[in-house]
Amino acid sequence: MTYRESILLIGFGRMGSALLHGWIKEGMTPDSISVIDPFLESEMPEGVNHRKDICELTLTSNPTVVVFAVKPQSLDEVVPLYKQYDETNTAFLSIAAGKPISYFEKILKQGAIIRGMPNTPASIGQGITVLCSNNRISSDQKILCTKLMKSVGEVEWIDNEKLMDAVTGLSGSGPAYVFHMVEAMAEAGVEAGLSAELAMSLARSTVAGSGALLKENNVPVSILRENVTSPGGTTAAALEVLMGTRGLTQLMCETVIRATERSKKLA
Ligand SMILES: NC(=O)c1ccc[n+]([C@@H]2O[C@H](COP(=O)([O-])OP(=O)(O)OC[C@H]3O[C@@H](n4cnc5c(N)ncnc54)[C@H](OP(=O)(O)O)[C@@H]3O)[C@@H](O)[C@H]2O)c1
Repeated sequence: MTYRESILLIGFGRMGSALLHGWIKEGMTPDSISVIDPFLESEMPEGVNHRKDICELTLTSNPTVVVFAVKPQSLDEVVPLYKQYDETNTAFLSIAAGKPISYFEKILKQGAIIRGMPNTPASIGQGITVLCSNNRISSDQKILCTKLMKSVGEVEWIDNEKLMDAVTGLSGSGPAYVFHMVEAMAEAGVEAGLSAELAMSLARSTVAGSGALLKENNVPVSILRENVTSPGGTTAAALEVLMGTRGLTQLMCETVIRATERSKKLA
């Protein structure tokens, strides 16, 4: 992938640094990237133009995309500082959880605004990001923002921004559900007689390995499940419990809906 565009990244925390490293890995030249972060903790790759404050930054041309990767509570202070790029061809991509497109439109009145919801596996390039935008986005901007987020995993677009709450409830918060499943499996292993250490090791590897299988095989997940379930066997006995009427699907529906409702409330 080659980039001719210039990117201005605001915030070099966990998500900002994952993005930057992803862009460089995907072939973006470091000198086409500028970063603003007042308290830089992670190491900055060589050649990237880093400043503590936007006042200290001189760019030869307007950035193609300004990426907001700061905490949602910092946005009131941060976004107005980039109004100078409104009324230009700059696109604004925000990954701040819960902040709607309308929030940015109140400050950046002319801009193409793209809202993204990544998740934590993005930190190792294995995330999934859902993007949506206002109708000022051009097809080139859409392609570029897709590329930018693809550098840390998969990308999906949605047209209806209201669905971002459900996205947050599923893939945004989802890694925590999977981590908790590991905890639950490990605890169950201890109940069944294993040592805590061995049970945790088995649970971690089982979930990680199954995740890798999912990634590698494009077969339906139900087939993967059926492949390890012989009739009358141990897995079948276990799935009778897990897939029963008060089973995992019911529990997961309640879980995702609770997170979706909370996301709506916070927005
Ligand atoms: N991490 C995730 O898994 C995840 C998932 C989905 C969405 N997100 C979203 O991604 C955004 C960033 O999250 P994160 O986990 O990367 O947070 P983070 O690690 O706290 O990173 C935010 C960075 O922005 C810096 N910052 C604060 N004020 C600034 C300013 N005025 N100008 C430039 N930079 C400034 C912060 O510095 P200080 O730390 O010194 O304040 C910090 O380095 C959040 O809005 C979050 O909702 C994150």
